[in-house]
Amino acid sequence: MGNNFVTWILIFYMFHSVSGEGCSLILKPSRVVVGFGEAVSVSCEAARPVRVLGWESAISATHTQEDQSVQWKVDSLIDWIEEPICYGVFHTAPRQCEEKLNLVLYKTPDSVSITQVNHTGPMVEGKEYTLLCEVQNIAPVQYLTLRWYRGQTEVYKHSFSDLTSSSPVQVSSTLVITPTKAENGAVYKCVAELELGPEGPQPPPTVSSDSLTSSVYFPPIFLSPDTEILDWTLGAEITLNCSATGNPAPIYSWESSQPIQDKMEGEEIVTTSSLLPGTYTCTASNTLEKKSKQFIVKAKTKGV
Ligand SMILES: *[C@@H]1O[C@H](CO)[C@@H](O)[C@H](O)[C@H]1NC(C)=O
Ligand SMILES: *[C@@H]1O[C@H](CO)[C@@H](O)[C@H](O)[C@H]1NC(C)=O
Repeated sequence: MGNNFVTWILIFYMFHSVSGEGCSLILKPSRVVVGFGEAVSVSCEAARPVRVLGWESAISATHTQEDQSVQWKVDSLIDWIEEPICYGVFHTAPRQCEEKLNLVLYKTPDSVSITQVNHTGPMVEGKEYTLLCEVQNIAPVQYLTLRWYRGQTEVYKHSFSDLTSSSPVQVSSTLVITPTKAENGAVYKCVAELELGPEGPQPPPTVSSDSLTSSVYFPPIFLSPDTEILDWTLGAEITLNCSATGNPAPIYSWESSQPIQDKMEGEEIVTTSSLLPGTYTCTASNTLEKKSKQFIVKAKTKGV
């Protein structure tokens, strides 16, 4: 008896054991989720009289010939391939049983980063760009969900449930965007979330990337593009409003059949009482395009 007997039983059980319902081995808890380097303990109980009860484990094997329960215990779990199995050898059939522990050892990513692929600097509206999110050293990857955000809005969700790896891996996700001018200044982010189930930490651990603020170039757009007709009276103030949006910010220039006053140069909005009647053209330009708008300053017909 003693150790030789246990060894013989071990070999025997490996070829003849059953598991599941009729097995009478109960693991408490039946599923464990452990953070890398954390402590873990699980007890295995025999629901009927047992001769030998033990844990087969690369790092913490143990057995008993006296008790109806035996604990598998590790102070700091760092072994990615650990698959503890509780086994029992009984007096009555089924004589050999085993129950594999549902063990999830997890690790949150070392880093989550967001970058633009093959491009630096501002984007141009209407063109396609690719954003890349990279996740370093995550485990187990099958529980990972990567969420892409623009501002507070989730724009894409990438699940990795089709992958299987118990040890840490590096994964990535791409997002193709076609920015509009309204998205100038939009903030992109990707967030790695480990959804480990009810036995795991609540809320699920997340690691967020830095923010990527997009700058979207677009040509100047006048807020009111139509030609403006303005009434002129001697000595009265008039306003020529050439406001345009654009990225980069438009610069303004003025032309006219009349002499242009120095103080108008570069101005977006001109308010003056010293203009002469005539046609004034404002040009708003940036690196993408030049756009013009006309102002017709008309002398008021007498008597009207
Ligand atoms: C980035 O550029 C490299 C080399 O020019 C090319 O092989 C790759 O396909 C490009 N990637 C994307 C997403 O455009
Ligand atoms: C100029 O025009 C824009 C668009 O119509 C308007 O929002 C802005 O208040 C105007 N500015 C002035 C000084 O009139």
